[in-house]
Amino acid sequence: MLKGKHIILGITGGIAAYKCATLTRLLIKAGAEVQVIMTPNAKQFIQPLTLSTLSGKPVISEFFTANTGQWNSHVDLGLWADALIIAPATASTIGKMAHGVADNMLVTTYLSAKAPVFVAPAMDLDMMRHPSTVRNLDLLRSYGNHIIEPTAGELASHLIGKGRMEEPENIVKVLDDFFSQGEDLKGKQVLITAGPTVERIDPVRYISNFSSGKMGFALAEECASRGAQVTLVSGLVALKTGHPSIHRIDVTTALEMHDAVMQALPQSDAVILCAAVADYRVENVADKKIKREKDTAPVIRLTPNPDIARAVGQAKRPNQVTVGFALETDNENVNAQGKLERKNLNFIVMNSLRDKNAGFQVDTNKVTIFTDKGETLEGECKSKREVAHDIIDVLHKYLLQK
Ligand code: C5P
Repeated sequence: MLKGKHIILGITGGIAAYKCATLTRLLIKAGAEVQVIMTPNAKQFIQPLTLSTLSGKPVISEFFTANTGQWNSHVDLGLWADALIIAPATASTIGKMAHGVADNMLVTTYLSAKAPVFVAPAMDLDMMRHPSTVRNLDLLRSYGNHIIEPTAGELASHLIGKGRMEEPENIVKVLDDFFSQGEDLKGKQVLITAGPTVERIDPVRYISNFSSGKMGFALAEECASRGAQVTLVSGLVALKTGHPSIHRIDVTTALEMHDAVMQALPQSDAVILCAAVADYRVENVADKKIKREKDTAPVIRLTPNPDIARAVGQAKRPNQVTVGFALETDNENVNAQGKLERKNLNFIVMNSLRDKNAGFQVDTNKVTIFTDKGETLEGECKSKREVAHDIIDVLHKYLLQK
């Protein structure tokens, strides 16, 4: 699947850079065109000559070539690429990518690139688990970048732990899988809700929930990378969307989310209702900030919000596929299956707050899918992006039958 693909291989200054000779060789063998960009420090670890010989293209490292003044355009390179791999990615480059510190050719090209980005970190175990690295990698994930997790083993420091760059063979496999899943959703319009809704109490306070939107955003990225046009109706979240095929509509309240969804519904082939919608909103919203009273507490009256999933279930055409989510704390399977029927869904994705590393805020999830055909598909604990991949595989099968 890599045949003819334009790959930028960004090499940074870590000892694992020596593995990039093999990585370049494997990419070329798989039929890709490889343009190597090295950070100045990377050249301390591996000779540009090795990589230019293997890739068949001069290695780029500086903004311009000193003796000729020839300008290397990061914008052109960014647009040329079908994929960008940063391997090895040091803590420093990861930090620069996370915060847009474009002081070298590689980070500048990264910021200009529209193509999917794969990051294979490699560093010492303590650097790997430092909160700043963890946070920066989270930021990269939130930009839609794919992190190729380092493996555990003996490190250059002779310490043993997580921080070894994934082997070149496996990096090539990740890319190959990415391209071979291809564009199986090409031509499809997918509508996704994500994140929490916020219901005002007064101009200052609100009622909401702990949803981060990470699962819905991972689904949006997954659908877009498989060729779909995505409309992402998002509540208040701290996430960014990276893919150009994602049209994002930001909303605040359940009523606003309902209206945005009902408007996009007729054009949609599939609808994934992943948002944590408040079941109630405040009936008596105060127009001024509620003041503290000495002897009485204010009474907040609630009124039901529309059930968006149910409204979609009632309005849906036979050729539309609808998917719901159920986050449960108890009686999980029965509750989820009840929602599947009540909301007229094709399948429902259930996660339980009783599972560690599942549900709100975290980057991983463990789900069970119940389908309208009576199947139960149990998943492992995986990254939300991997869970999104599995969910979209099921969705794809449904779309094929429509
Ligand atoms: O809140 P509940 O557990 O019933 O949510 C199950 C499904 O219904 C989820 O897919 C959620 O996004 C959707 N939902 C909705 N509108 C609501 C409540 C829930 O779309 N008002």
